[in-house]
Amino acid sequence: MAEDLVLRQGESGDEERMAAILAGAPEAAQWKNEFSTLVAEAGGEVVGFAVYRIVAGEGELLNLAVEAGWRRRGVATALLDRLMAEAGLWHLEVRESNEKAIAFYQRCGFEWVGERRGYYRDGETALLYSCFSRTE
Ligand SMILES: CC(C)(COP(=O)(O)OP(=O)(O)OC[C@H]1O[C@@H](n2cnc3c(N)ncnc32)[C@H](O)[C@@H]1OP(=O)(O)O)[C@@H](O)C(=O)NCCC(=O)NCCS
Repeated sequence: MAEDLVLRQGESGDEERMAAILAGAPEAAQWKNEFSTLVAEAGGEVVGFAVYRIVAGEGELLNLAVEAGWRRRGVATALLDRLMAEAGLWHLEVRESNEKAIAFYQRCGFEWVGERRGYYRDGETALLYSCFSRTE
């Protein structure tokens, strides 16, 4: 885990900081967030977050973004590790062009399970990935 990283549930006061991170992460989903959020803080500042929902024991990762200057330091891994303990099976969609995120998800154990052609507004295909996790 990245050093000195604190994980906590997101709060309404985090929205401005999350919007700033999203502005530097155009590959991430850009919609406004009505779901549960887990944020990673370093030095009192939010440096990354995950948006998710858990329904009937299955989790869906809806968004994940880390501030550009904090990437490749284990922030997303720490967020995902914490989330994976909350549900036995996780699903996500990712743009087929987003090679960095795909490499990250594969490294975390996600496997390709399908695709949705033309899923995004700009016509790009969404790749579907899933991962079983250990919840005990
Ligand atoms: C994808 C993203 C969340 C990864 O966050 P991160 O905190 O940098 O990831 P981690 O440091 O935990 O990476 C863990 C491992 O994943 C893989 N990985 C992460 N980023 C990678 C990249 N850019 N290229 C290749 N592999 C990558 C590596 O194996 C990495 O381990 P290593 O650094 O020891 O080689 C981040 O790049 C990001 O915010 N991107 C923009 C938003 C986005 O695309 N979100 C996903 C939407 S579906």
